[in-house]
Amino acid sequence: MTKLLETQDLVTNFYTYEGMVQALNRVSLVVEEGSTFGLVGESGCGKSVTVRSIMRIVQPPGRIEGGRVLVYFGGADQDHGLDLLMQSEEYMRGLRGCDMSMIFQEPNAALNPTLSIGYQVSESFLFHQTAEMSRKILDDWDQPGQAPALAGLLKPLYQRAAANPKDMLLAILSRIPILRRWRKPLLAEAKARSIDIIGKLGIPNPERVVDAFPHNLSGGMKQRIVIAMALACNPVLLIADEATSNLDVTIQAQILDLLVRLKKESISSILLITHDLGVVAETCDRVGVMYAGNLVEVGPVQGIFAHPRHPYTQALLDSVPKFQTEGELKSIEGAVPNLVSPPPGCRFHPRCPHMMDVCRDRLPDLLDADPGHQVACHWAEQNRAGGSA
Ligand SMILES: Nc1ncnc2c1ncn2[C@@H]1O[C@H](COP(=O)(O)OP(=O)(O)OP(=O)(O)O)[C@@H](O)[C@H]1O
Ligand SMILES: [Mg+2]
Repeated sequence: MTKLLETQDLVTNFYTYEGMVQALNRVSLVVEEGSTFGLVGESGCGKSVTVRSIMRIVQPPGRIEGGRVLVYFGGADQDHGLDLLMQSEEYMRGLRGCDMSMIFQEPNAALNPTLSIGYQVSESFLFHQTAEMSRKILDDWDQPGQAPALAGLLKPLYQRAAANPKDMLLAILSRIPILRRWRKPLLAEAKARSIDIIGKLGIPNPERVVDAFPHNLSGGMKQRIVIAMALACNPVLLIADEATSNLDVTIQAQILDLLVRLKKESISSILLITHDLGVVAETCDRVGVMYAGNLVEVGPVQGIFAHPRHPYTQALLDSVPKFQTEGELKSIEGAVPNLVSPPPGCRFHPRCPHMMDVCRDRLPDLLDADPGHQVACHWAEQNRAGGSA
């Protein structure tokens, strides 16, 4: 197993007038390279806060107050991940734009209604791939007859800009009218890449779509455009937070297929947040189940669906309609706890059919139940110790 991302005992709290909302209570999970990890759980259990903490985009009054977020790419080896919580904000800005990108539930929030689709997708390429595109244009100019008239004069400047994309040179150059010309091939390259990626994402007539505006497109199309923008930076990890929840079922299926295909072709791993267990069954390799700020069970999708160990996971699975379901569906008794004053010990104990005394006192650790399958439950632990699980 090669790790790509790991959280260790992640703690995030929100300081509200009602008190401190203990949103994440020592969340530890691992996303493996080349896999799709699904994070599931009822509304308010902390799925979004987990990924926002990973990306370090928790807004005040929220604060990440403990734990580590380790990544194992960009030079960090498997023994010593790089702790994102210790990096500068500048480092995070570079990472968010490059190796880790995120798509949200609401495509409209990610798209500007007044700008064309082509402009917005091109912007992503210009933002993330200027250096690489500049180099490609320079290489083209090395071909006889390819360089435009001014290119010879401008090439040294262009080379400096290409070698150092963060250099203000690019910005300065584009402000000098006569030099602005060389921005043209860059814009043309960005547009060509936009058309290419829009086409790859299964949108018909990409050449026409680039001239359209967000209001001309359906919800599913808009979400594809948002995915195109997220892919412009060649992410190693794509985080999708309920990215298909607002779409109707057929479009949802298409977007999920698209994500699965992209994972095979270009992105290494996906962290998929959903409250739809059907989506998890179809798309994920591993799944983590959250309850009230705790990760209560994690393991391979098949293992968890066939042999859920945690009473909450069992209840969650029982509440989903199945093909052969007979009689009434079960709902989970009780209500999700208030995270300002969560129950002590295991946060699920007030709703748990197998509650024992120890559950009120001590938060269970996430322990191995089967190979690669962990559960945080005193009852499951006792069952296993007794050999009956
Ligand atoms: N800005 C905030 N201020 C106060 N509490 C917050 C804030 N954002 C999140 N929380 C709390 O953190 C907890 C986890 O929220 P989160 O958004 O991660 O839930 P979720 O699992 O993503 O739910 P959903 O499925 O509805 O998206 C919730 O109990 C919520 O009340
Ligand atoms: Mg959420």
